[in-house]
Amino acid sequence: MAVRAFTRCPFAALTGGRTLAATKRGGGGGGGGGGGRCFDKDAVDQKAAERAGLTLDEAWSVDEVNLYDRLGLDTLQKFSTAFYTSFYKDKPYYEALFKTHPLEQSIENQWSFLAQRFGGPQLFNELKGGPAQMLRRHEDYPCNDTTAERWLHHSQIAFEQVPEIDDDSRLRMERFFKWMAYFLVEGQKARKEAGCGQGRRQGG
Ligand code: HEM
Repeated sequence: MAVRAFTRCPFAALTGGRTLAATKRGGGGGGGGGGGRCFDKDAVDQKAAERAGLTLDEAWSVDEVNLYDRLGLDTLQKFSTAFYTSFYKDKPYYEALFKTHPLEQSIENQWSFLAQRFGGPQLFNELKGGPAQMLRRHEDYPCNDTTAERWLHHSQIAFEQVPEIDDDSRLRMERFFKWMAYFLVEGQKARKEAGCGQGRRQGG
């Protein structure tokens, strides 16, 4: 069965009726949370999984364990530092994507997101003063097959530099990253096709 493995969330009452995972996703998953989207988010979720070669259950297997408790903040910070240090040396992508973003800030943005998304404290929301809404946060950046593959390439370099991430955690993270990268690619396409941002409510 795909997806809604989380609908039996025992904390639903504490999360405004939403499931824990839906809340986590809304705070930093595939966009999640709230209505009024101008495109079909479920279809984009599914399409992203297909493009990543995964089922949605696999893509969201990060929700089956608390990776924050398992790995700790130091390890996530080490991962984000390795990831962005590598990406920022990739000249054409640095020029196209990151030139106006201080390295330290990008690193902090990422580890605070990962900590929150992987079951830790709401660091990203605190840092940014609002939920992750990844699609919206990426609307100014070109998320396409090339940049997604580059993002995933640098994540592999980072994994190699952080042996503290055990194989099981790495697999869950890799699947989530792959799904998220294609979610951003397919989500941008869907928003464009639906004419989002042209007088219609935006979402994601
Ligand atoms: C598909 C290719 C992607 C591109 C081209 C891309 C590009 C960017 C750029 C240019 C930024 C701004 C740098 C900063 O200030 O942090 C950014 C921010 C961010 N990205 Fe991505 N990204 C991609 C995929 C991903 C994926 C797969 C994830 C997570 C799994 C992710 C997580 C984030 C987060 C958490 C931020 C910070 C957002 C904020 O501060 O508002 N990105 N991305």
